[in-house]
Amino acid sequence: IKVEPYRPQAFIDFTVPANVDAYQAALTKVRAELLGKHYPLIINGERVDTAEKLYSTNPCDTSEVIGSTAKATIEDAQRALDGAWAAWADWKTWSMDARARILLKAAAILKRRRLEACALMTLEVGKNYAEADVEVAEGIDFLEYYAREAMKYSGFGAAETTWFDGEENGLMYLSLGVGVSISPWNFPYAIFAGMFAAPIVAGNCVIAKPAEDSGMIAGFVVDIMLEAGMPAGVLQFLPGVGEEVGEYLVQSAQTRFVTFTGSRSVGLHINEVAAKVPKGQKWLKRVILELGGKDALIVDETADLPNAVTAAVQGAFGFNGQKCSAMSRLIVVDEVYEEVVGQFVERTKALSVGTGEANCNVTAVVNQESFDKVGKYQEIGKGEAKLLTGGETPGECGGKKGHYVQPTIFGDVPSDARLAQEEIFGPVVAVFRARDFKHALELANSTEYGLTGGVCSRNRARLEQARNEFEVGNLYFNRKITGAIVGVQPFGGYNMSGTDSKAGGPEYLGNFMQLKTVTERF
Ligand code: NAD
Ligand code: ALA
Repeated sequence: IKVEPYRPQAFIDFTVPANVDAYQAALTKVRAELLGKHYPLIINGERVDTAEKLYSTNPCDTSEVIGSTAKATIEDAQRALDGAWAAWADWKTWSMDARARILLKAAAILKRRRLEACALMTLEVGKNYAEADVEVAEGIDFLEYYAREAMKYSGFGAAETTWFDGEENGLMYLSLGVGVSISPWNFPYAIFAGMFAAPIVAGNCVIAKPAEDSGMIAGFVVDIMLEAGMPAGVLQFLPGVGEEVGEYLVQSAQTRFVTFTGSRSVGLHINEVAAKVPKGQKWLKRVILELGGKDALIVDETADLPNAVTAAVQGAFGFNGQKCSAMSRLIVVDEVYEEVVGQFVERTKALSVGTGEANCNVTAVVNQESFDKVGKYQEIGKGEAKLLTGGETPGECGGKKGHYVQPTIFGDVPSDARLAQEEIFGPVVAVFRARDFKHALELANSTEYGLTGGVCSRNRARLEQARNEFEVGNLYFNRKITGAIVGVQPFGGYNMSGTDSKAGGPEYLGNFMQLKTVTERF
Protein backbone atom coordinates (compact mmCIF):
# COMPACT_ATOMS: atom_id res chain seq x y z
CA ILE A 1 0.00 0.00 0.00
CA LYS A 2 1.37 3.36 -1.01
CA VAL A 3 0.70 6.34 1.23
CA GLU A 4 2.20 9.75 1.70
CA PRO A 5 3.73 10.43 5.13
CA TYR A 6 1.13 11.40 7.71
CA ARG A 7 0.27 15.10 7.84
CA PRO A 8 -2.41 16.53 10.14
CA GLN A 9 -5.42 18.18 8.50
CA ALA A 10 -5.27 21.96 8.22
CA PHE A 11 -8.02 23.83 10.07
CA ILE A 12 -10.61 25.94 8.27
CA ASP A 13 -10.09 29.69 8.60
CA PHE A 14 -13.40 31.19 9.70
CA THR A 15 -12.19 34.76 9.29
CA VAL A 16 -12.74 34.10 5.56
CA PRO A 17 -16.40 34.95 4.81
CA ALA A 18 -16.72 32.18 2.17
CA ASN A 19 -15.88 29.57 4.83
CA VAL A 20 -18.53 30.95 7.15
CA ASP A 21 -21.04 30.80 4.28
CA ALA A 22 -20.06 27.18 3.59
CA TYR A 23 -20.55 26.29 7.26
CA GLN A 24 -23.98 27.89 7.30
CA ALA A 25 -24.93 26.05 4.12
CA ALA A 26 -23.90 22.80 5.86
CA LEU A 27 -26.10 23.70 8.83
CA THR A 28 -29.03 24.19 6.45
CA LYS A 29 -28.32 20.85 4.75
CA VAL A 30 -28.02 19.01 8.07
CA ARG A 31 -31.22 20.59 9.34
CA ALA A 32 -32.99 19.46 6.17
CA GLU A 33 -31.52 15.95 5.97
CA LEU A 34 -30.55 14.80 9.46
CA LEU A 35 -32.85 16.63 11.88
CA GLY A 36 -35.11 14.06 13.49
CA LYS A 37 -33.06 11.16 12.12
CA HIS A 38 -33.00 7.96 14.14
CA TYR A 39 -29.88 5.76 14.33
CA PRO A 40 -30.56 2.11 15.22
CA LEU A 41 -27.97 -0.22 16.76
CA ILE A 42 -25.67 -2.00 14.33
CA ILE A 43 -25.02 -5.61 15.28
CA ASN A 44 -23.35 -8.01 12.84
CA GLY A 45 -23.82 -5.47 10.06
CA GLU A 46 -27.58 -5.26 10.58
CA ARG A 47 -29.58 -2.31 11.83
CA VAL A 48 -31.48 -3.30 14.93
CA ASP A 49 -34.10 -1.12 16.57
CA THR A 50 -35.17 -1.13 20.19
CA ALA A 51 -38.40 -0.41 22.03
CA GLU A 52 -36.84 2.53 23.87
CA LYS A 53 -34.86 5.41 22.37
CA LEU A 54 -32.22 7.91 23.52
CA TYR A 55 -32.98 11.47 22.39
CA SER A 56 -30.46 14.20 21.59
CA THR A 57 -31.58 17.75 22.30
CA ASN A 58 -29.89 20.95 21.24
CA PRO A 59 -28.10 22.30 24.36
CA CYS A 60 -28.50 25.84 23.00
CA ASP A 61 -32.26 25.48 22.46
CA THR A 62 -33.60 22.70 24.62
CA SER A 63 -37.02 22.83 22.95
CA GLU A 64 -35.40 21.30 19.86
CA VAL A 65 -34.94 17.54 19.54
CA ILE A 66 -32.11 16.85 17.09
CA GLY A 67 -32.75 13.15 16.68
CA SER A 68 -32.40 9.83 18.43
CA THR A 69 -30.63 6.52 18.66
CA ALA A 70 -31.79 3.11 19.73
CA LYS A 71 -31.16 2.24 23.39
CA ALA A 72 -29.43 -1.13 23.64
CA THR A 73 -30.53 -3.76 26.14
CA ILE A 74 -28.41 -6.38 27.90
CA GLU A 75 -29.59 -8.93 25.32
CA ASP A 76 -28.36 -6.65 22.52
CA ALA A 77 -25.00 -6.31 24.29
CA GLN A 78 -24.68 -10.08 24.55
CA ARG A 79 -25.50 -10.55 20.85
CA ALA A 80 -22.94 -7.89 20.00
CA LEU A 81 -20.27 -9.76 22.00
CA ASP A 82 -21.10 -13.12 20.41
CA GLY A 83 -21.17 -11.63 16.92
CA ALA A 84 -17.91 -9.77 17.43
CA TRP A 85 -16.08 -12.95 18.49
CA ALA A 86 -17.48 -14.74 15.43
CA ALA A 87 -16.27 -11.89 13.19
CA TRP A 88 -12.83 -11.88 14.82
CA ALA A 89 -12.07 -15.38 13.50
CA ASP A 90 -11.77 -13.86 10.04
CA TRP A 91 -10.82 -10.25 10.83
CA LYS A 92 -7.67 -11.28 12.70
CA THR A 93 -6.39 -12.95 9.53
CA TRP A 94 -6.62 -9.77 7.42
CA SER A 95 -3.29 -8.09 6.70
CA MET A 96 -2.51 -4.79 8.40
CA ASP A 97 -2.55 -3.13 4.97
CA ALA A 98 -6.01 -4.44 4.17
CA ARG A 99 -7.40 -3.24 7.47
CA ALA A 100 -5.62 0.11 7.10
CA ARG A 101 -7.26 0.64 3.70
CA ILE A 102 -10.70 0.75 5.32
CA LEU A 103 -9.55 3.51 7.67
CA LEU A 104 -8.01 5.43 4.79
CA LYS A 105 -11.18 5.16 2.73
CA ALA A 106 -13.30 6.27 5.70
CA ALA A 107 -10.97 9.27 6.16
CA ALA A 108 -11.46 10.17 2.49
CA ILE A 109 -15.26 10.06 2.87
CA LEU A 110 -15.10 12.09 6.07
CA LYS A 111 -13.00 14.74 4.33
CA ARG A 112 -15.76 15.11 1.74
CA ARG A 113 -18.42 15.33 4.47
CA ARG A 114 -16.35 17.41 6.88
CA LEU A 115 -18.73 20.37 7.19
CA GLU A 116 -21.77 18.13 7.57
CA ALA A 117 -20.10 16.37 10.50
CA CYS A 118 -19.24 19.77 11.97
CA ALA A 119 -22.79 21.06 11.58
CA LEU A 120 -24.29 17.99 13.20
CA MET A 121 -21.98 18.48 16.17
CA THR A 122 -22.98 22.13 16.42
CA LEU A 123 -26.60 21.04 16.74
CA GLU A 124 -26.10 17.99 18.96
CA VAL A 125 -23.54 19.25 21.51
CA GLY A 126 -23.35 22.99 20.82
CA LYS A 127 -19.83 23.39 19.36
CA ASN A 128 -19.09 26.63 17.55
CA TYR A 129 -17.54 26.48 14.06
CA ALA A 130 -13.87 26.38 14.96
CA GLU A 131 -14.33 23.94 17.85
CA ALA A 132 -16.31 21.57 15.63
CA ASP A 133 -13.85 21.89 12.77
CA VAL A 134 -10.81 21.21 14.94
CA GLU A 135 -12.52 18.10 16.22
CA VAL A 136 -13.52 16.77 12.82
CA ALA A 137 -9.96 17.36 11.64
CA GLU A 138 -8.74 15.36 14.65
CA GLY A 139 -11.13 12.51 13.82
CA ILE A 140 -9.79 12.33 10.26
CA ASP A 141 -6.23 12.49 11.62
CA PHE A 142 -6.82 9.53 13.93
CA LEU A 143 -7.91 7.38 10.98
CA GLU A 144 -5.01 8.49 8.78
CA TYR A 145 -2.46 8.16 11.58
CA TYR A 146 -3.53 4.76 12.94
CA ALA A 147 -3.73 3.36 9.40
CA ARG A 148 -0.07 4.25 8.90
CA GLU A 149 0.94 3.08 12.36
CA ALA A 150 -0.64 -0.34 11.68
CA MET A 151 1.56 -0.83 8.65
CA LYS A 152 4.63 -0.71 10.89
CA TYR A 153 3.54 -3.95 12.52
CA SER A 154 3.31 -5.97 9.32
CA GLY A 155 5.22 -9.22 9.19
CA PHE A 156 7.29 -11.41 11.43
CA GLY A 157 10.22 -9.49 12.79
CA ALA A 158 8.58 -6.07 12.71
CA ALA A 159 10.20 -5.43 16.09
CA GLU A 160 13.95 -5.56 16.63
CA THR A 161 15.35 -8.66 18.31
CA THR A 162 19.02 -9.49 18.64
CA TRP A 163 20.57 -11.99 16.22
CA PHE A 164 21.50 -15.35 17.74
CA ASP A 165 23.59 -17.76 15.67
CA GLY A 166 21.87 -20.95 14.57
CA GLU A 167 18.36 -19.68 15.21
CA GLU A 168 15.71 -17.51 13.72
CA ASN A 169 14.05 -15.35 16.40
CA GLY A 170 11.28 -12.86 15.98
CA LEU A 171 8.29 -11.14 17.48
CA MET A 172 4.78 -11.45 16.15
CA TYR A 173 2.17 -8.81 16.94
CA LEU A 174 -1.24 -10.38 17.46
CA SER A 175 -4.61 -8.85 18.13
CA LEU A 176 -6.30 -9.46 21.48
CA GLY A 177 -9.86 -10.36 20.45
CA VAL A 178 -13.04 -8.45 21.30
CA GLY A 179 -13.00 -5.25 23.30
CA VAL A 180 -15.33 -2.52 24.42
CA SER A 181 -14.85 1.15 23.70
CA ILE A 182 -16.77 3.56 25.95
CA SER A 183 -16.52 7.22 25.04
CA PRO A 184 -17.60 10.67 26.30
CA TRP A 185 -19.82 13.31 24.69
CA ASN A 186 -17.30 16.15 24.66
CA PHE A 187 -15.33 14.86 21.65
CA PRO A 188 -18.19 12.79 20.26
CA TYR A 189 -16.61 12.37 16.84
CA ALA A 190 -12.82 12.33 17.28
CA ILE A 191 -12.48 10.40 20.52
CA PHE A 192 -15.29 8.05 19.57
CA ALA A 193 -13.62 7.30 16.21
CA GLY A 194 -10.08 7.12 17.57
CA MET A 195 -11.08 4.70 20.30
CA PHE A 196 -12.52 2.14 17.90
CA ALA A 197 -10.21 2.73 14.92
CA ALA A 198 -6.99 1.89 16.77
CA PRO A 199 -8.06 -1.48 18.18
CA ILE A 200 -9.84 -2.41 14.94
CA VAL A 201 -6.90 -1.68 12.65
CA ALA A 202 -4.76 -3.77 15.02
CA GLY A 203 -7.03 -6.73 14.28
CA ASN A 204 -9.57 -6.64 17.09
CA CYS A 205 -13.35 -6.39 16.94
CA VAL A 206 -14.94 -3.58 18.95
CA ILE A 207 -18.26 -2.83 20.57
CA ALA A 208 -18.46 0.95 20.51
CA LYS A 209 -20.72 2.54 23.11
CA PRO A 210 -21.05 6.29 22.62
CA ALA A 211 -22.19 8.69 25.34
CA GLU A 212 -25.92 9.16 25.80
CA ASP A 213 -25.85 12.84 24.74
CA SER A 214 -24.03 12.37 21.46
CA GLY A 215 -25.29 9.22 19.77
CA MET A 216 -26.17 10.88 16.47
CA ILE A 217 -22.72 12.04 15.53
CA ALA A 218 -21.46 8.58 16.55
CA GLY A 219 -24.08 6.99 14.25
CA PHE A 220 -22.96 9.32 11.45
CA VAL A 221 -19.34 8.15 11.84
CA VAL A 222 -20.28 4.46 12.03
CA ASP A 223 -22.31 4.74 8.81
CA ILE A 224 -19.19 6.07 7.09
CA MET A 225 -17.10 3.17 8.41
CA LEU A 226 -19.62 0.71 6.95
CA GLU A 227 -19.60 2.61 3.65
CA ALA A 228 -15.81 2.30 3.68
CA GLY A 229 -16.12 -1.48 3.86
CA MET A 230 -15.93 -2.45 7.53
CA PRO A 231 -17.03 -6.11 7.59
CA ALA A 232 -20.09 -7.17 9.59
CA GLY A 233 -19.42 -7.72 13.28
CA VAL A 234 -16.05 -5.96 13.39
CA LEU A 235 -17.53 -2.65 14.58
CA GLN A 236 -20.69 -3.14 16.64
CA PHE A 237 -22.55 0.13 17.34
CA LEU A 238 -24.24 -0.02 20.70
CA PRO A 239 -25.67 3.27 21.99
CA GLY A 240 -27.18 2.73 25.42
CA VAL A 241 -27.02 3.72 29.06
CA GLY A 242 -23.57 3.44 30.62
CA GLU A 243 -24.71 1.98 33.92
CA GLU A 244 -26.68 -0.69 32.03
CA VAL A 245 -25.04 -1.96 28.82
CA GLY A 246 -21.68 -0.31 29.57
CA GLU A 247 -21.49 -2.05 32.92
CA TYR A 248 -22.60 -5.36 31.41
CA LEU A 249 -19.92 -5.24 28.73
CA VAL A 250 -17.17 -4.29 31.17
CA GLN A 251 -17.90 -7.17 33.54
CA SER A 252 -18.46 -9.81 30.84
CA ALA A 253 -16.11 -12.80 30.78
CA GLN A 254 -16.09 -12.41 26.98
CA THR A 255 -14.55 -8.93 27.06
CA ARG A 256 -10.80 -9.01 26.40
CA PHE A 257 -10.09 -5.28 26.78
CA VAL A 258 -11.85 -2.07 27.77
CA THR A 259 -10.84 1.31 26.43
CA PHE A 260 -12.59 4.10 28.31
CA THR A 261 -12.52 7.89 28.13
CA GLY A 262 -14.63 9.75 30.64
CA SER A 263 -14.84 10.92 34.21
CA ARG A 264 -12.58 9.87 37.06
CA SER A 265 -15.43 8.34 39.06
CA VAL A 266 -16.74 6.14 36.23
CA GLY A 267 -13.19 5.25 35.18
CA LEU A 268 -12.26 4.07 38.68
CA HIS A 269 -15.44 2.04 38.85
CA ILE A 270 -14.67 0.41 35.48
CA ASN A 271 -11.13 -0.33 36.65
CA GLU A 272 -12.53 -2.15 39.67
CA VAL A 273 -15.21 -4.09 37.79
CA ALA A 274 -12.78 -5.13 35.06
CA ALA A 275 -10.27 -6.39 37.63
CA LYS A 276 -12.71 -9.04 38.86
CA VAL A 277 -12.48 -12.38 37.04
CA PRO A 278 -15.92 -13.85 36.40
CA LYS A 279 -16.37 -17.59 35.89
CA GLY A 280 -15.22 -18.68 32.45
CA GLN A 281 -12.87 -15.73 31.85
CA LYS A 282 -9.42 -16.95 30.92
CA TRP A 283 -7.48 -13.67 30.64
CA LEU A 284 -6.70 -10.55 32.58
CA LYS A 285 -8.72 -7.77 30.98
CA ARG A 286 -6.61 -4.99 29.63
CA VAL A 287 -7.97 -1.61 30.71
CA ILE A 288 -7.03 1.71 29.15
CA LEU A 289 -8.41 4.74 30.97
CA GLU A 290 -8.36 8.39 29.90
CA LEU A 291 -9.91 10.45 32.69
CA GLY A 292 -10.44 14.00 33.89
CA GLY A 293 -8.18 16.94 34.61
CA LYS A 294 -7.74 20.03 36.76
CA ASP A 295 -5.31 21.62 34.38
CA ALA A 296 -3.18 24.63 35.25
CA LEU A 297 -1.40 27.39 33.36
CA ILE A 298 1.41 29.19 35.20
CA VAL A 299 2.23 32.79 34.28
CA ASP A 300 5.40 34.28 35.74
CA GLU A 301 6.70 37.85 35.85
CA THR A 302 8.93 37.37 32.78
CA ALA A 303 6.12 36.22 30.48
CA ASP A 304 4.81 37.98 27.40
CA LEU A 305 1.67 38.99 29.28
CA PRO A 306 -0.76 39.63 26.38
CA ASN A 307 0.22 36.25 24.92
CA ALA A 308 -0.30 34.60 28.32
CA VAL A 309 -3.75 36.16 28.66
CA THR A 310 -4.71 34.92 25.19
CA ALA A 311 -3.51 31.42 26.16
CA ALA A 312 -5.60 31.59 29.33
CA VAL A 313 -8.80 32.73 27.58
CA GLN A 314 -8.49 30.17 24.79
CA GLY A 315 -7.57 27.33 27.15
CA ALA A 316 -10.30 28.12 29.65
CA PHE A 317 -13.29 28.86 27.49
CA GLY A 318 -12.83 26.88 24.24
CA PHE A 319 -15.97 24.69 24.04
CA ASN A 320 -17.07 26.26 27.34
CA GLY A 321 -14.28 24.60 29.32
CA GLN A 322 -15.80 21.21 28.51
CA LYS A 323 -12.45 19.64 27.67
CA CYS A 324 -10.39 17.33 29.84
CA SER A 325 -7.48 19.56 28.78
CA ALA A 326 -9.21 22.87 29.65
CA MET A 327 -7.39 25.42 31.76
CA SER A 328 -9.45 25.34 34.92
CA ARG A 329 -6.66 26.79 37.08
CA LEU A 330 -4.62 29.93 36.36
CA ILE A 331 -1.60 30.40 38.61
CA VAL A 332 -0.04 33.85 38.48
CA VAL A 333 3.11 35.03 40.20
CA ASP A 334 2.26 37.85 42.62
CA GLU A 335 4.33 40.53 40.85
CA VAL A 336 2.08 40.39 37.76
CA TYR A 337 -1.09 39.00 39.35
CA GLU A 338 -3.19 42.18 39.16
CA GLU A 339 -2.20 42.95 35.58
CA VAL A 340 -2.72 39.41 34.24
CA VAL A 341 -5.93 38.74 36.13
CA GLY A 342 -7.32 42.18 35.24
CA GLN A 343 -6.76 41.53 31.51
CA PHE A 344 -8.04 37.94 31.81
CA VAL A 345 -11.28 39.18 33.36
CA GLU A 346 -11.70 41.94 30.76
CA ARG A 347 -11.13 39.54 27.85
CA THR A 348 -13.57 37.06 29.39
CA LYS A 349 -16.28 39.69 29.78
CA ALA A 350 -15.92 40.44 26.06
CA LEU A 351 -16.65 36.85 24.99
CA SER A 352 -19.91 36.40 23.13
CA VAL A 353 -22.36 33.94 24.68
CA GLY A 354 -25.01 32.31 22.51
CA THR A 355 -25.64 29.42 20.17
CA GLY A 356 -23.13 27.27 18.34
CA GLU A 357 -25.08 28.01 15.17
CA ALA A 358 -24.43 31.73 15.63
CA ASN A 359 -20.75 30.83 16.18
CA CYS A 360 -20.56 32.41 19.63
CA ASN A 361 -17.40 32.11 21.71
CA VAL A 362 -19.19 30.45 24.61
CA THR A 363 -22.30 28.35 24.04
CA ALA A 364 -24.56 26.32 26.32
CA VAL A 365 -23.15 23.43 28.38
CA VAL A 366 -24.19 20.02 27.20
CA ASN A 367 -27.06 18.95 29.47
CA GLN A 368 -29.08 19.65 32.60
CA GLU A 369 -26.64 17.69 34.77
CA SER A 370 -23.70 19.84 33.62
CA PHE A 371 -25.78 22.99 34.02
CA ASP A 372 -26.64 22.03 37.62
CA LYS A 373 -23.04 21.05 38.35
CA VAL A 374 -21.65 24.37 37.12
CA GLY A 375 -24.28 26.24 39.17
CA LYS A 376 -23.36 24.23 42.24
CA TYR A 377 -19.65 25.03 41.89
CA GLN A 378 -20.39 28.71 41.28
CA GLU A 379 -22.11 28.73 44.68
CA ILE A 380 -19.28 26.77 46.32
CA GLY A 381 -16.81 29.22 44.79
CA LYS A 382 -18.67 32.24 46.19
CA GLY A 383 -18.07 30.80 49.65
CA GLU A 384 -14.43 29.92 49.05
CA ALA A 385 -12.94 32.75 46.97
CA LYS A 386 -13.47 36.13 45.33
CA LEU A 387 -15.89 36.18 42.38
CA LEU A 388 -14.29 38.28 39.61
CA THR A 389 -16.82 37.81 36.81
CA GLY A 390 -19.82 35.64 35.95
CA GLY A 391 -21.23 33.46 38.68
CA GLU A 392 -24.74 33.04 37.29
CA THR A 393 -26.59 30.37 35.31
CA PRO A 394 -29.18 32.32 33.28
CA GLY A 395 -30.53 29.21 31.49
CA GLU A 396 -31.51 31.28 28.50
CA CYS A 397 -29.89 33.52 25.92
CA GLY A 398 -31.35 35.69 23.18
CA GLY A 399 -34.85 34.38 23.91
CA LYS A 400 -33.76 30.72 23.66
CA LYS A 401 -33.97 28.42 26.66
CA GLY A 402 -30.80 26.36 26.94
CA HIS A 403 -28.10 25.26 29.36
CA TYR A 404 -26.46 28.69 29.42
CA VAL A 405 -24.03 29.50 32.21
CA GLN A 406 -21.86 32.59 32.50
CA PRO A 407 -18.10 32.29 31.97
CA THR A 408 -16.91 32.59 35.56
CA ILE A 409 -13.63 33.48 37.24
CA PHE A 410 -12.77 33.29 40.92
CA GLY A 411 -9.64 35.04 42.25
CA ASP A 412 -7.33 34.39 45.21
CA VAL A 413 -8.53 30.81 45.50
CA PRO A 414 -6.98 28.86 48.41
CA SER A 415 -5.08 25.77 47.27
CA ASP A 416 -7.18 23.38 49.35
CA ALA A 417 -10.55 24.76 48.16
CA ARG A 418 -12.92 22.41 46.36
CA LEU A 419 -12.72 24.87 43.48
CA ALA A 420 -8.99 24.17 43.38
CA GLN A 421 -9.18 20.40 43.42
CA GLU A 422 -12.38 19.11 41.77
CA GLU A 423 -13.07 18.91 38.05
CA ILE A 424 -16.06 21.11 37.16
CA PHE A 425 -16.03 20.61 33.39
CA GLY A 426 -17.53 23.95 32.49
CA PRO A 427 -16.47 27.59 32.01
CA VAL A 428 -15.31 28.16 35.59
CA VAL A 429 -11.72 29.15 36.35
CA ALA A 430 -9.94 29.28 39.70
CA VAL A 431 -7.09 31.81 39.86
CA PHE A 432 -4.24 31.43 42.35
CA ARG A 433 -1.69 33.94 43.56
CA ALA A 434 1.81 32.42 43.78
CA ARG A 435 4.66 33.99 45.75
CA ASP A 436 7.17 33.05 43.05
CA PHE A 437 7.74 30.47 40.32
CA LYS A 438 8.69 27.71 42.77
CA HIS A 439 5.44 28.23 44.64
CA ALA A 440 3.53 28.31 41.33
CA LEU A 441 4.91 24.91 40.36
CA GLU A 442 4.01 23.51 43.80
CA LEU A 443 0.45 24.75 43.34
CA ALA A 444 0.29 23.29 39.83
CA ASN A 445 1.29 19.86 41.16
CA SER A 446 -1.06 19.99 44.13
CA THR A 447 -4.03 18.07 42.68
CA GLU A 448 -4.42 14.35 42.13
CA TYR A 449 -4.82 14.91 38.37
CA GLY A 450 -2.02 15.28 35.81
CA LEU A 451 -3.38 15.73 32.32
CA THR A 452 -2.33 19.01 30.70
CA GLY A 453 -0.41 21.99 32.00
CA GLY A 454 1.43 25.03 30.77
CA VAL A 455 3.95 27.69 31.60
CA CYS A 456 4.17 31.18 30.14
CA SER A 457 7.66 32.46 30.88
CA ARG A 458 10.74 33.85 29.16
CA ASN A 459 13.04 32.30 31.76
CA ARG A 460 14.82 29.33 30.18
CA ALA A 461 15.85 27.75 33.50
CA ARG A 462 12.25 27.78 34.71
CA LEU A 463 10.97 26.22 31.51
CA GLU A 464 13.57 23.47 31.91
CA GLN A 465 12.56 22.97 35.53
CA ALA A 466 8.91 22.68 34.49
CA ARG A 467 9.85 20.27 31.69
CA ASN A 468 11.15 17.91 34.39
CA GLU A 469 8.94 18.64 37.36
CA PHE A 470 5.47 19.63 36.12
CA GLU A 471 3.53 16.38 36.64
CA VAL A 472 1.37 16.20 33.53
CA GLY A 473 1.12 14.05 30.44
CA ASN A 474 0.92 17.04 28.08
CA LEU A 475 2.94 20.15 28.84
CA TYR A 476 2.83 23.36 26.79
CA PHE A 477 5.03 26.44 26.95
CA ASN A 478 3.92 29.94 25.94
CA ARG A 479 0.61 28.84 24.37
CA LYS A 480 -2.80 27.46 25.30
CA ILE A 481 -2.94 24.03 26.93
CA THR A 482 -5.71 22.54 24.78
CA GLY A 483 -5.82 21.32 21.21
CA ALA A 484 -3.36 18.43 20.98
CA ILE A 485 -2.86 17.36 17.37
CA VAL A 486 -2.72 13.67 16.44
CA GLY A 487 0.85 12.53 15.87
CA VAL A 488 2.20 15.93 16.90
CA GLN A 489 1.22 15.93 20.58
CA PRO A 490 0.38 12.35 21.64
CA PHE A 491 -2.25 12.78 24.33
CA GLY A 492 -2.84 11.26 27.77
CA GLY A 493 -2.39 12.01 31.43
CA TYR A 494 -0.66 10.97 34.64
CA ASN A 495 -2.03 10.07 38.06
CA MET A 496 -5.84 10.24 38.27
CA SER A 497 -5.98 11.55 34.71
CA GLY A 498 -5.50 8.05 33.36
CA THR A 499 -3.15 5.37 32.19
CA ASP A 500 -1.15 7.75 29.97
CA SER A 501 -1.77 5.63 26.89
CA LYS A 502 -1.03 8.55 24.54
CA ALA A 503 -3.79 8.53 21.97
CA GLY A 504 -2.43 9.71 18.63
CA GLY A 505 1.07 8.56 19.53
CA PRO A 506 3.48 5.95 18.22
CA GLU A 507 2.92 3.50 21.08
CA TYR A 508 -0.88 3.63 21.06
CA LEU A 509 -1.65 0.59 18.89
CA GLY A 510 0.47 -1.53 21.23
CA ASN A 511 -2.34 -1.20 23.79
CA PHE A 512 -4.45 -3.45 21.59
CA MET A 513 -1.96 -6.12 20.66
CA GLN A 514 -0.10 -8.95 22.29
CA LEU A 515 3.35 -10.14 21.35
CA LYS A 516 4.50 -13.66 20.67
CA THR A 517 8.20 -14.47 20.50
CA VAL A 518 8.92 -17.38 18.15
CA THR A 519 12.26 -19.19 17.99
CA GLU A 520 13.28 -21.82 15.46
CA ARG A 521 16.58 -23.69 15.88
CA PHE A 522 18.10 -24.35 12.46
P1 NAD B 1 -18.79 9.93 32.00
O1 NAD B 1 -17.76 9.23 32.80
O2 NAD B 1 -20.01 10.38 32.67
O3 NAD B 1 -19.28 8.98 30.79
C1 NAD B 1 -18.36 8.44 29.85
C2 NAD B 1 -18.94 7.19 29.24
O4 NAD B 1 -19.06 6.20 30.26
C3 NAD B 1 -20.35 7.36 28.67
O5 NAD B 1 -20.44 6.68 27.43
C4 NAD B 1 -21.23 6.70 29.71
O6 NAD B 1 -22.42 6.20 29.18
C5 NAD B 1 -20.34 5.58 30.19
N1 NAD B 1 -20.64 5.02 31.51
C6 NAD B 1 -21.22 5.63 32.57
N2 NAD B 1 -21.33 4.76 33.61
C7 NAD B 1 -20.80 3.59 33.20
C8 NAD B 1 -20.62 2.32 33.82
N3 NAD B 1 -21.01 2.09 35.07
N4 NAD B 1 -20.04 1.33 33.11
C9 NAD B 1 -19.64 1.55 31.84
N5 NAD B 1 -19.80 2.72 31.20
C10 NAD B 1 -20.37 3.74 31.87
O7 NAD B 1 -18.04 11.14 31.25
P2 NAD B 1 -18.66 12.24 30.28
O8 NAD B 1 -19.48 13.19 31.09
O9 NAD B 1 -19.26 11.62 29.09
O10 NAD B 1 -17.33 12.99 29.79
C11 NAD B 1 -16.67 13.96 30.52
C12 NAD B 1 -15.48 13.41 31.27
O11 NAD B 1 -14.57 12.80 30.34
C13 NAD B 1 -14.66 14.48 31.97
O12 NAD B 1 -14.28 14.02 33.23
C14 NAD B 1 -13.45 14.65 31.06
O13 NAD B 1 -12.33 15.19 31.70
C15 NAD B 1 -13.25 13.27 30.58
N6 NAD B 1 -12.48 13.23 29.32
C16 NAD B 1 -11.19 12.78 29.35
C17 NAD B 1 -10.42 12.79 28.18
C18 NAD B 1 -8.99 12.29 28.18
O14 NAD B 1 -8.45 12.08 27.10
N7 NAD B 1 -8.35 12.15 29.32
C19 NAD B 1 -10.98 13.24 26.98
C20 NAD B 1 -12.32 13.67 26.99
C21 NAD B 1 -13.06 13.66 28.16
N1 ALA C 1 -7.15 16.20 22.76
C1 ALA C 1 -7.94 17.25 23.29
C2 ALA C 1 -7.12 18.47 23.60
O1 ALA C 1 -5.92 18.39 23.57
C3 ALA C 1 -8.70 16.82 24.49
O2 ALA C 1 -7.66 19.49 23.89
